Amino acid sequence: MTAKKRILTGYRPTGKLHLGHWFGNLQNMLSLQNEYDAYYFIADWHALTSDWADPGGIARYTEEMVLDWCAAGLDPDRCTIYRQSDVPEVAELALYFAMVTPMSWLERVPSYKEQRDQISDRDLGNLGFFMYPLLQAADIAIVLADFVPVGEDQLPHLELTREIVRRFNSAYGEFLVEPQAITAKAGARVPGLDGRKMSKSYGNAIFISDSPEEIRAKVMGFMTDPARKLKTDPGDPDICPLHAVHRLIASESDIAEWDRCCRSAECGCVAHKKSLAADLVGYLAEFQARRSELEAIPGFAAEVLAKGAAKARPVTSGVVATCRELIGLDARTGLDDE
Ligand code: TRP
Repeated sequence: MTAKKRILTGYRPTGKLHLGHWFGNLQNMLSLQNEYDAYYFIADWHALTSDWADPGGIARYTEEMVLDWCAAGLDPDRCTIYRQSDVPEVAELALYFAMVTPMSWLERVPSYKEQRDQISDRDLGNLGFFMYPLLQAADIAIVLADFVPVGEDQLPHLELTREIVRRFNSAYGEFLVEPQAITAKAGARVPGLDGRKMSKSYGNAIFISDSPEEIRAKVMGFMTDPARKLKTDPGDPDICPLHAVHRLIASESDIAEWDRCCRSAECGCVAHKKSLAADLVGYLAEFQARRSELEAIPGFAAEVLAKGAAKARPVTSGVVATCRELIGLDARTGLDDE
């Protein structure tokens, strides 16, 4: 038996996947599934922490995510793809974590303060949202993951996970694993149409399932170097979000040619937008064809999730069983054994 190290990462099913996910984390997940015992899960309970009053989209986005993941090349026979709520042991471990975690640890998590300040269209005063990072710690610990591939924004959650695991272990015995983060390669930050980080909530995203027409229309609206007002003004490709996206998919020589043409004001932004739109449509064509094929298979997503839950649950039930034992909750069973 090969003792591959285990990794785990999860996405909240709150929307369709866009190029920011594609380049930021998904490509990483694809290559990691070969080297590691990879657990990739859809965090529907985490989606519920913010969308509890309007949970209608969660099941649909869960299914779409399975299609996106598998069409992109995640292989359900090689990695374990599952849905959080299909593995209820996570909730039990989260409850044990709630016992050992001081409230002040959760109060100081930066994403918590940030989102409560910034998001005004939803009520985030609920306990579930407060304990979001604690549930995340349980996701990671329930499979004893060694590594967690995530974006930089998740690092405070990883730090908290390690602290909770240490507390649990020092209270009940060294058992749970302190996970390490694997962050995506530098430069994987993908700008959206307005130059800010690509994000569904900013409305600046190109989704990987967008039709060619949608992609063309969006790319024509891309922000470019704001100082380049006229076609005859030389541009600065290093600050232009259009160039930043081009660099993700183009060859070295194409990138050099774009840079030269822009700096010398030989070509205008409109020409580059048209060309990037065509390139992106071509780049995503194979993925999109594969996605339509999978979508046409009845029950495809449900089957992937059922298979994943069947693989994950022996692991997760084993881990909670050991936790109960370590805490001493099954002392009565122990007596019966004597
Ligand atoms: N918080 C993560 C995000 O918003 C999603 C997530 C939930 C996660 N549980 C996790 C990521 C466990 C990694 C590991 O992207």
